[in-house]
Amino acid sequence: MPERPTELIDRFGRVIRDLRISVTPRCNYHCTYCDPLTDSHPEPRGTLSVQDVDNFVKASALLGLDAARFTGGEPLLRKELPQMMENAKNTPGVKDIALTTNGTMFRRRHKELLEAGLNRINISIDALNPSIFRQATGGGDVTQVLDAIDLALELNLHPVKLNAVAIRGINDTELVHLAKLSLERPLHVRFIEYMHLNNSDLESYNNAFLSGKAIRAMIEQELGVLEEVPTDPSSPARVFKVPNSLGSLGFINPISEPFCGACSRMRLTADRKVRPCLLTDRELDANAAFDSANPIEALIDVLLEAAHRKDRMGDLLPKIRERTMVAIGG
Ligand code: 5AD
Repeated sequence: MPERPTELIDRFGRVIRDLRISVTPRCNYHCTYCDPLTDSHPEPRGTLSVQDVDNFVKASALLGLDAARFTGGEPLLRKELPQMMENAKNTPGVKDIALTTNGTMFRRRHKELLEAGLNRINISIDALNPSIFRQATGGGDVTQVLDAIDLALELNLHPVKLNAVAIRGINDTELVHLAKLSLERPLHVRFIEYMHLNNSDLESYNNAFLSGKAIRAMIEQELGVLEEVPTDPSSPARVFKVPNSLGSLGFINPISEPFCGACSRMRLTADRKVRPCLLTDRELDANAAFDSANPIEALIDVLLEAAHRKDRMGDLLPKIRERTMVAIGG
């Protein structure tokens, strides 16, 4: 029998280390850039079980993946999330357990998440102004999210990263206010360029798109010239800070400055597909592997094939995709 590789390397020599697991395609928010509520989600309730996630994490860890991020949809909608995290934490080789969440249920569930071994959290927040926030999220209450941010800091989860997708006409007036969150507390605010992952029409997308450069200019106009902070070259964000501030400002520019060359990611969707690239519809159906007699070995084969399917670059240009962001996972 050929020996199994201990690393997952794609055709371009990139080493895949980071696993992103979408545990549900459901979300209690409906941000138009992510979940336009127009097309049906592939599996409205998802099918990944706790056992599936455990098998997948174990298969990945045997191939050297050492970080697992839980996403959705909104991952806290899954009651079994802490169990999934704990299993991942107990998997030899897995060093880092992270969560991307909208924060609404964090206060209610933080104890079980911490007990399960959560290390890091990214909280999405696109506006501070309550009515802009409500509009951007389809009814969200920003006070809940601010409370989650306070709590994450109190709990010393670090770093606490905040994600804001910049959309002209929706939250462009809020970006400077969000940047100010980094001044007095160790909050790492990251501005993300809007990717065409919602199957919106081209004209509205183009009108709403704001480049990282434009966002930075808006912030520098109000807060002065930012200083660059050296970062790990594999990180997608270029990081800056307002001099003497406690936090930082990151710019994630997947469209204007694609970082595919440093991609180290592999995704699992809530409906048991392995997706090699956020922006490319080249998924593998892992149902047979999950249901096989030896799922871990079968999933290793799926992962090897998925790595092989990674393209040099994702489909950055707007196009109609098989699923929208809410069903892929952030
Ligand atoms: N473009 C850029 N970022 C997006 N996110 C969701 N949809 C998009 C999009 N179309 C990000 C949000 C959220 C994370 C889960 O994914 O910032 O924090």
